[in-house]
Amino acid sequence: MIEILGQKKGSSGLKKAVLGFGLGTAFAAALIIGSSVPGNAQVFKVSPAPLEPSPGTYKPGTLAGNIEAGKGVYFRKCVWCHGPDGAGDGPSAIRLITKPRNFNQGTFKIRHTGSGELPTDEDLFNSVTHGLSGSVMPPWGSILSEQERKDVVSFIKKELVKDREFDDPDEEITVISYGTQIPSSPESIEQGRDIFMNKAKCVECHGVEGRGDGNLTQRDDWAFPIFPANLQKPWNLRGNRRDPYNPRNIFREISTGLNGTPMPSFAEELSEEERWHVANFVISLTDIKRPLDPETGKPAIGFVIKSRFVEEGAVPDTPTDEKWLAVPPQFVGMASQIIQPPRHFIRTVDDIRVRSLYNDKEVALLFQWDDRTESHRNESAEAKYDYKRLSSVAFPAINTTQYTHENDKARGPLKNVNPEPVGVYNSARQRD
Ligand code: HEC
Ligand code: HEC
Repeated sequence: MIEILGQKKGSSGLKKAVLGFGLGTAFAAALIIGSSVPGNAQVFKVSPAPLEPSPGTYKPGTLAGNIEAGKGVYFRKCVWCHGPDGAGDGPSAIRLITKPRNFNQGTFKIRHTGSGELPTDEDLFNSVTHGLSGSVMPPWGSILSEQERKDVVSFIKKELVKDREFDDPDEEITVISYGTQIPSSPESIEQGRDIFMNKAKCVECHGVEGRGDGNLTQRDDWAFPIFPANLQKPWNLRGNRRDPYNPRNIFREISTGLNGTPMPSFAEELSEEERWHVANFVISLTDIKRPLDPETGKPAIGFVIKSRFVEEGAVPDTPTDEKWLAVPPQFVGMASQIIQPPRHFIRTVDDIRVRSLYNDKEVALLFQWDDRTESHRNESAEAKYDYKRLSSVAFPAINTTQYTHENDKARGPLKNVNPEPVGVYNSARQRD
């Protein structure tokens, strides 16, 4: 039987559980997991955002789109979420957290302009092209032509933003300057950490480790609950422009703030230099910078969990054991449970990181996930879930050790030789 050997107490922040179990008859399973050593953490080269116009080229009102054509695009592609009048109330809205934007007030998050100001045309065009990562707003760059994206932006500006006018001479636009970028270095990161913790107090909202668990009671301008961003997952930041390890994006967000949210602008409070240090610190919070899956914009999912052999001594039995650091985690993506009632369309945990170590007697698995919601256990008789099945691990009945590149062809596709998996192990329930 699998037991949970250690689980971090508390309801928010990082949660971890280690499953350890005696191998016994499941020894073959250890071989199936594989003895290959996972590759070293890949160093991801930071590239400048290729699709963003370079600073200084932002001239408000330069984008030429056809409003009528844009209306057509909008009613084909955008209305389902953003609603017929752009009020963020399309048929899908009810099932979404981070609601589709209500365009009527002219409040836009990702901009190069000062706090509270309208965005530049390029800002809107780039949001439509790249989408807003970490929300369901899709990237339209490969679906709509450049002209269609310009058209739909023109339609939103002219017809759906109702409370403000983009061509009102009283609407001031100040475009931020990136100044001189300070390259990342241990000194810069240290200075950034100090500003994050003390001078700018980012920590009060984003939490000590930047996991977005500092203040969980905030609301956005439309009165919906909003969490501070989890800065350890830069691929989920709305304005990452699909280039999440680039500190320029962070510099921009700190400089402009995100209109409509509690995230303030620090353009006045912090100098350009200080903002670069903070940006370098924020980027350093992600332990492993992985290349992204171009489809999802998130780290590529690891379908095979590789286990590493422990040369000496026992496998770890606590989540804090330093031995874990020897194995890079595999990402396993989570989906919402929409098949069986009660359906849960909103997924609060979007990925789980899994590490595994084994010796000749045991296999240990470490699961880590970020969960900013408070955990409530339903103790009543109507409780639908069997919490004994807190986690399940299934080993397939395929002896993968027999498969190599050479004999793959001769054997045909990989087949499960047994209709049942070798073993399904359920963890025992443990109270926090
Ligand atoms: C599947 C739902 C969905 C569809 C379809 C969709 N959007 Fe969005 N969109 C969203 C959500 C959700 C947000 C808000 C994300 C946030 O606030 O963090 C958003 C936000 C936006 C924003 C605001 C950007 C900013 O900086 O604040 C723009 C502009 C936008 N969408 C344009 C479009 C256009 C144009 C289309 C159609 C081509 C479209 N959306 C289709 C869900 C959708
Ligand atoms: C008053 C609370 C608050 C403070 C203080 C604060 N933030 Fe935020 N921050 C937020 C919230 C809330 C969001 C989420 C906005 C959203 O989801 O649209 C956010 C989002 C972000 C993002 C993500 C932007 C994106 O593209 O999605 C970054 C980066 C960020 N904050 C960095 C910082 C840094 C660095 C500081 C300090 C210099 C800071 N924040 C201070 C509340 C705060």
